[in-house]
Amino acid sequence: MGLLDGKVAVVTGAGGGIGRCHALALAERGAKAVVNDLGGARDGTGSGTVMADSVVDEIRRAGGEAVANYESVATMEGAAAIVQSAVDAFGRVDIIVNNAGILRDKTLLKMEESMWDAVIAVHLKGTFAVTQASARRMVEQGDGGRIINTSSMSGLFGNFGQSNYGAAKAGIAGFTRVAALELLRHRITVNAIVPVAKTRMTEDIAATPQEFVPELVSPMVVFLASDLAQDVTGRVFGVIGPRLCEYKYITTPGVAKSDGISSPEEIAKRFDDITRDE
Ligand code: NAI
Repeated sequence: MGLLDGKVAVVTGAGGGIGRCHALALAERGAKAVVNDLGGARDGTGSGTVMADSVVDEIRRAGGEAVANYESVATMEGAAAIVQSAVDAFGRVDIIVNNAGILRDKTLLKMEESMWDAVIAVHLKGTFAVTQASARRMVEQGDGGRIINTSSMSGLFGNFGQSNYGAAKAGIAGFTRVAALELLRHRITVNAIVPVAKTRMTEDIAATPQEFVPELVSPMVVFLASDLAQDVTGRVFGVIGPRLCEYKYITTPGVAKSDGISSPEEIAKRFDDITRDE
């Protein structure tokens, strides 16, 4: 018995990079897979069928079941069609991996509206659109479900030249926590991963080592997609090449205003006390 036998998984942006590895890993553990990919360039321009088709071929050659889908995650119609292709091919949807992504880097002062809109549309709206369409279907099915989103260190900590991408990825982390709360009673878990891997997206970033192959990211996704993680929800996990971790917010103990802090000057004086970790 495979860990994911009988499950139907959709991976967006699965025609290459990390998404391809997720689709192969989920199928290897028994899930039937929808390999979605728009098939365009790193900046989201263009489209094509070759990328998704080639991953479907790989899965089939390895003995798995898969179908391709070429819609964009960035529209409500595209998202609905992605979920529908799982239902049409395999009768249901159990697992969604929101992975599709593009980059349009520019410093804030030079950022163009079109660059902002395109990145927010694919990452943030795409994650919302596919999550909503699939969660509605999962609620109807009544058997729970798994949604795994993709955030980034750029969103959690900031990265130069990525105000659009960082905002979208921070938004995805926040969205994950809210969706997890709302979908808990339907036994649908919602988590996010923060990967670091060498792909076409990071090929020109010297700080990402060659040995951080995208295959290293997928075991965490398979875990979160499985019954092994039925009680894990609303959390953000790092898969930094070979290292696994969880990202958590910390709140400092802080200082009560009743301690006499009533003016900006008092805040300045006690700033270290307000911000000190325990
Ligand atoms: P990639 O460029 O190889 O993969 C992204 C895939 O999404 C591509 O195959 C692309 O065709 C597809 N795609 C783009 N727009 C789409 C759309 N509108 N609809 C459907 N598919 C679309 O890059 P990589 O590195 O595999 O990225 C995967 C995810 O991981 C992205 O969300 C990225 O932001 C995230 N990520 C990657 C990191 C890394 O170190 N590689 C670091 C942090 C986050």
